[in-house]
Amino acid sequence: MTVNGSAEPVIAVEGVEKVFDVRRKAAGTLRRERHQVRAVDGISFTVPPGEMVGYIGPNGAGKSTTIKMLTGILTPSGGRVRVAGIDPSRDRTRLARRIGVVFGQRTTLWWDLPLRDSYQLVRRMYRIEDARYARNLDACVDLLDLGPLLDVPVRQLSLGQRMRGDIAAALLHDPDVLYLDEPTIGLDVISKAKVRDFLRTVNAERGTTVLLTTHDLTDIETLCSRVMVIDHGRLMYDGGLDGLHAVGESERTLVVDFAAELPPVQVPGARWVRSEGPRQWLAFPAGDSAAPLVTALAASHPLVDLSVREPAIEDVIARMYGAA
Ligand SMILES: Nc1ncnc2c1ncn2[C@@H]1O[C@H](COP(=O)(O)OP(=O)(O)OP(=O)(O)O)[C@@H](O)[C@H]1O
Ligand SMILES: [Mg+2]
Repeated sequence: MTVNGSAEPVIAVEGVEKVFDVRRKAAGTLRRERHQVRAVDGISFTVPPGEMVGYIGPNGAGKSTTIKMLTGILTPSGGRVRVAGIDPSRDRTRLARRIGVVFGQRTTLWWDLPLRDSYQLVRRMYRIEDARYARNLDACVDLLDLGPLLDVPVRQLSLGQRMRGDIAAALLHDPDVLYLDEPTIGLDVISKAKVRDFLRTVNAERGTTVLLTTHDLTDIETLCSRVMVIDHGRLMYDGGLDGLHAVGESERTLVVDFAAELPPVQVPGARWVRSEGPRQWLAFPAGDSAAPLVTALAASHPLVDLSVREPAIEDVIARMYGAA
């Protein structure tokens, strides 16, 4: 699998595009005008085996469209896609054995069947051998607490229960690559944590490559070492979360409790943000040390307490989306 010491990518996307032809009613007439939406507009990236990558961006950015091209559901309008060495749109059936897909917005399970029967159908579809099926099902049932749910028809499951059921279904055939399109949408905090723990275990123990789309940045912070940000079908950022802070020009905040109420304090290297009684908030570049600021403040005013707040990843992302 290795070339020049680095693993060959399991996902390789080169200048991929997807243009949708849509018909829209022209304003003030009954005519329908044809018009094109460039949902994905020349995106390139590779993912090595075993990596867990976050794929984020605002609504309509092109995330789901990208995932659909990576599964073979949609054919790209341009560019090149390879997953596990396979061209997804040409060889969708062969690719299906190598990938698992979860679309949080809709289930791949059979609505009227109990989970257990849905899994049996998956087993037959993928011709999963008995021992492997039993092993994988046991592991999923155990880690996702599916035991009490196996005999419940899918339509009677709550959203969180159904999502866990869907994730298990996507993993029964041991896929090399798992695509998750908003797997935590609508889940409560406990269910989200359960799903995250499970994904971390699967990634660590089976080495499954994971591409994860989400609007919950905690998913990204807890699971992904790498994040790709897309907007208007283009890749805006590809790298670590730390790098995002640098690109987003994030700031840390020094929260200072002075002994008395003071006018806004001025310290070189920091920016006064707000005051509330004797407490003041001062922002400074996330990459700078807080020490010189604290020294300067302590030298000029009596301090009671202070703390440093890390930049919220939400703010960084919001700034990026806004700038795009
Ligand atoms: N089948 C389709 N026909 C026409 N336009 C489409 C189709 N699918 C998606 N689009 C358009 O392509 C763009 C990207 O949509 P996509 O679903 O990939 O966004 P997304 O990043 O997944 O957004 P969200 O966060 O809301 O799920 C949108 O403008 C959408 O309206
Ligand atoms: Mg989407």
